[in-house]
Amino acid sequence: MNFVVLYNTIMTKINKFAWENLPQPILALAPMAGVTDSPFRQVCLEAGADVVYSEMISVTGLFHHSPKTERLFKFTSREHPLIIQVFGAVPEHFAYAAKYITEQVRPDGIDINFGCPVRDVIKTGAGSYLMKNLALAQEVLAAVRENTTLPVSVKTRTQVGEVTVLDFLDAVKNVPLQALMVHGRSFSQKFSGAINIELIKEAAKKFKGIVLANGNMNTPEQIQAVLSQTGCQGAGLARGVLGKPYLFTQTREFLSTGHYTKPRFSEVVQTIMKQAQLMQAEKGVHGIIEMRKHLGWYVHDFPGARNLRNQLYRCSTYKEIAEILLENSTRFG
Ligand SMILES: Cc1cc2nc3c(=O)[nH]c(=O)nc-3n(C[C@H](O)[C@H](O)[C@H](O)COP(=O)(O)O)c2cc1C
Repeated sequence: MNFVVLYNTIMTKINKFAWENLPQPILALAPMAGVTDSPFRQVCLEAGADVVYSEMISVTGLFHHSPKTERLFKFTSREHPLIIQVFGAVPEHFAYAAKYITEQVRPDGIDINFGCPVRDVIKTGAGSYLMKNLALAQEVLAAVRENTTLPVSVKTRTQVGEVTVLDFLDAVKNVPLQALMVHGRSFSQKFSGAINIELIKEAAKKFKGIVLANGNMNTPEQIQAVLSQTGCQGAGLARGVLGKPYLFTQTREFLSTGHYTKPRFSEVVQTIMKQAQLMQAEKGVHGIIEMRKHLGWYVHDFPGARNLRNQLYRCSTYKEIAEILLENSTRFG
């Protein structure tokens, strides 16, 4: 038994959560900054997500005790399994963050972002640029591994510059990692275009832990196709669940029966109200304002969506949202 396998076996016994104990195929809520906050994670878990990721959180912000950064760590006892995703480019900051998260935040796992293409992130050497800086990536992973007993996972692109996910996996093969989420697009594709099935499939063969495919998996049919084409143990769902947490329920139904049902307006309303209640309880009026984008996504496919969305965008309380949805419920059934 090699060191990585031995380490994973021991850690699985110590931690209550283990990636390999999740039912497969694993349907995960992928990390999305400004979206996968505590209320949305709770709604997705209720809809059938097997595991949820936080928004990416800056290890440098945490190192400098930024209150804004510290607030992002808040979660409830209902949010498990929860993976906290961090980003940065300074090993010392990662070491501090890993210790802090393990001792004070206590989620189920720590994920490191190697895929973000946003200019403000890459200009510091973090996100996608960390994936192509293999020496620094090794240092970062060692710093995290040495300062946590939690399962550590990574989220990568299929390719950044000359470096493919396979090169990356070769470079970090001595670090015990429990899971990998591969965004099937290269850095230069940013967020559009087809995913690279072949590279995801090769990564799934090479990596010893759990591999989740990610990118363009917006319907149960697409999710099933990518899982069977790549041999991955699960999928990371991102933009496909915006306004559609029920994609988890539908996919589960489709994978076991071959068909799935469209939710009724009243069911979507229940989900909206649940999220709005949690947002208001957590952040007051500001929470409802933050939720406006979700309201637009939720009603996007309903007839007369534009008018309904405009009314909802003016709401600043849970009660106002409830009244508007009630008025419209007779129209949609
Ligand atoms: C609004 C938004 C925010 C995102 N934030 C993060 C993030 O914090 N960390 C991360 O690793 N990926 C982030 N992503 C990337 C997604 O996790 C995912 O890899 C990407 O959207 C591709 O999947 P999709 O085609 O299903 O959307 C974000 C994507 C979106 C649209």
